[in-house]
Amino acid sequence: MNAILLRGRLLSFVDRPAAIDDARSYRYESDGGLLMVDGRIAASGPYASVKASSPADVEEVDHRPHLILPGFIDPHVHFPQMQVIASYAGSLLEWLNTYTFVEEQRFADQDHAGRIASAFFDELIRHGTTTAAAYCSVHKASADAFFAESMRRGTCMIAGKVMMDRNAPDALRDTAESAYDETRALIAEWHGKGRNHVAITPRFAITSSREEMEAAGALAREFPHLHVQTHLSENAAEIAFTRELYPEAADYTDVYARFGLLGPKSLLGHCIHLSDREADALAESGSVAVFCPTSNLFLGSGLFDHARLSGRPTPVRIAIATDVGGGTSYSMLRTLDEGYKVLQLQGQRLNPLESFYRITLGNARALGLEGSIGTLNTGTDGDVIVLDASATPAMRLRMETVATLAEELFLLQTMGDDRAVSEVYVAGNAAKSVLATNGINNGSGTGR
Ligand code: GUN
Ligand code: FE
Repeated sequence: MNAILLRGRLLSFVDRPAAIDDARSYRYESDGGLLMVDGRIAASGPYASVKASSPADVEEVDHRPHLILPGFIDPHVHFPQMQVIASYAGSLLEWLNTYTFVEEQRFADQDHAGRIASAFFDELIRHGTTTAAAYCSVHKASADAFFAESMRRGTCMIAGKVMMDRNAPDALRDTAESAYDETRALIAEWHGKGRNHVAITPRFAITSSREEMEAAGALAREFPHLHVQTHLSENAAEIAFTRELYPEAADYTDVYARFGLLGPKSLLGHCIHLSDREADALAESGSVAVFCPTSNLFLGSGLFDHARLSGRPTPVRIAIATDVGGGTSYSMLRTLDEGYKVLQLQGQRLNPLESFYRITLGNARALGLEGSIGTLNTGTDGDVIVLDASATPAMRLRMETVATLAEELFLLQTMGDDRAVSEVYVAGNAAKSVLATNGINNGSGTGR
């Protein structure tokens, strides 16, 4: 038996906070204990009582005065874009054609895919992200490398081989048939293995023919429990091109609806320029709009209208994500900070309790995984992070004047990054502090 007892200030959400003073939306334990046994949370509550119920030989780690939260969840990120991030592009289609579709070709090389997969997991863990929904490249081998790395790390991950058969370089195109076959093979080889989930991943309408969209729809019908991930309504030129390619569709959202790709497992990146009809179609199908603030600002795509989507009679389900490499940071804290500013520009606010709800339980619910991740509930997986709101001299100074939990969270999201993540546990095992000592991804070129 592998038992570990963490001591610190526990914070976990039970529901979406209705307001900044909504104390019923979360559980906070100022001297808390969190017991993890064999990868799962076995108990959490006041330290003294959890300690009393722990095995006598339990390993104890004292994280006081830091906060202990569920691991962060990033529901939209591109693992083959680690060397695309920070590319000097004007807007989405230029960025894709000039940088992204060039870089992603390198993932035909298995050694390269393996090396970047290892670096990617290091980076997620360094930033406190324990689950992600990731796009791989068009090559099945890139998804194989990703899932193999996830098995080594013990992480809960969602990922898919990108399906794309047109409007991209030859070396980056599959066919409707090979996309279908390879996605099926990935499902057989990886779905449910360890904590891995395979997602059906048509990149977006521009890069998939009708035949390939039909193949994606067929997969979604055959495997209704699988996630579907794609991009929707990110950029004006993208929308115009999509309308040209699919004139029979009522609008961009309708393209996906026609192929049966909307629904409660569908994760739609961006959703910036939606009509009311489209927003209602997302709401009625239970699809998730994924807000990617650092990407939307970096590519000048537009401002995600959180109030409009969440304030409808039937609200659109919302998640928040990095979208690296269009996004500019792996940090969900940086992502919250930029998200806050995107809403500020529209006269909207995102209170710090809701922010931290979003990147934990909120994103877990968006993925339909709240039964296993996103909280500190007993019986769920031991994916836990430790946050230090005094991680830098400037943060420490500001912390001197912080009086409430909400203020501390707001400081963390406004000034925090990977330095504020003091430890990360994946399935009950310390994962951040061992990165350096393991020498994983030491930059030596060919991987591990
Ligand atoms: N649309 C299609 N592919 C991509 C991508 O890789 N990143 C972003 N931000 N948008 C996309
Ligand atoms: Fe994206």
